[in-house]
Amino acid sequence: MKVCVTGGAGFIGSHVAQAYLDAGHDVVIIDDLSTGKRTNVPGNARLIELNITDPAVADVFAQERFDVLNHHAAHMELRVSVQDPVKDATTNIIGSLRLLEAAHRNGVGHVVFASSGGAVYGDQSVFPADESHPTRPISPYGVSKRSVELYLDYYQEVHGMTSTILRYTNVYGPRQNPFGEAGVIAIFLQKWIDGATAVINGDGEQTRDYIYVGDVARANLFVTEQRLRGAFNCCTGIETSLNELVDHLRRSYGATALTRHGEGKPGDLRRNVCSFDKLRATSGWTPTMGLKEGVHLTADWFLHRK
Ligand SMILES: NC(=O)c1ccc[n+]([C@@H]2O[C@H](COP(=O)([O-])OP(=O)(O)OC[C@H]3O[C@@H](n4cnc5c(N)ncnc54)[C@H](O)[C@@H]3O)[C@@H](O)[C@H]2O)c1
Repeated sequence: MKVCVTGGAGFIGSHVAQAYLDAGHDVVIIDDLSTGKRTNVPGNARLIELNITDPAVADVFAQERFDVLNHHAAHMELRVSVQDPVKDATTNIIGSLRLLEAAHRNGVGHVVFASSGGAVYGDQSVFPADESHPTRPISPYGVSKRSVELYLDYYQEVHGMTSTILRYTNVYGPRQNPFGEAGVIAIFLQKWIDGATAVINGDGEQTRDYIYVGDVARANLFVTEQRLRGAFNCCTGIETSLNELVDHLRRSYGATALTRHGEGKPGDLRRNVCSFDKLRATSGWTPTMGLKEGVHLTADWFLHRK
């Protein structure tokens, strides 16, 4: 199978690209290297350096004749999306639409899309949330993710281009960008490596569902090979408070890990945890990495990366 992975020079996309390569598929990456790095691109994958909003996307799809589009490229700073919704929508909606149009016109049979369980559901009313939970995004980033989900439904229903929507919770692991606003594990580890104090926003009792990037990459492979249709949470179903997470991180990093409490961030979700029952029942996928071990592997990578 020939797969186009957008955002394959980034954190999650590079692990997804590697999973496809390991399974014997051909991988071409489209990435503008805005937050991604050339060094993240797996050795056997080909990188096309291109912004997904560029009309040249259509030429790439016409030339390459991909079987599958796996779409991970995105603008993903939630707070920036609030300040500049047009910037967010330009990449996340218009860029995505450009890809979907090129895919549909050039014989792509299936699309996998990286959506977000936190941003699309908004403030949860049920814990854990399954896929029938109302979608009430409370940020332009969440609106853009939900919009692409709806476009995918349209392409599937009207044009027969099938799609899997994977709604991730908080993904962590090696290669995560520690300088963005999201990714608390990477951010805290980098602060400590730099000799700085990591700031816990608010009381630290806010909860998240942390999923290891290796499990996410495997889910992408499963749903692609099985051509699953529809939206699926990709998560662990385990709710962990920031304070509990920091305990794990401290144990993995060591005694010099300093933290202090700061102001709570307005608009932050208080609780986020999702259920993966649907993905397990449909594809057989379950997460395999426990948080303690995953945090340990991630800390090890941050401490020893070149
Ligand atoms: N990290 C998480 O916890 C999480 C949770 C839910 C959903 N997601 C989604 O997963 C995807 C990957 O996230 P990540 O954490 O790996 O982020 P990342 O920033 O490491 O990866 C994004 C990649 O997309 C590329 N990119 C950005 N804008 C582009 C553009 N206009 N044209 C071409 N390439 C562009 C970047 O250079 C980067 O390589 C995103 O769609 C994100 O919304 C991530």
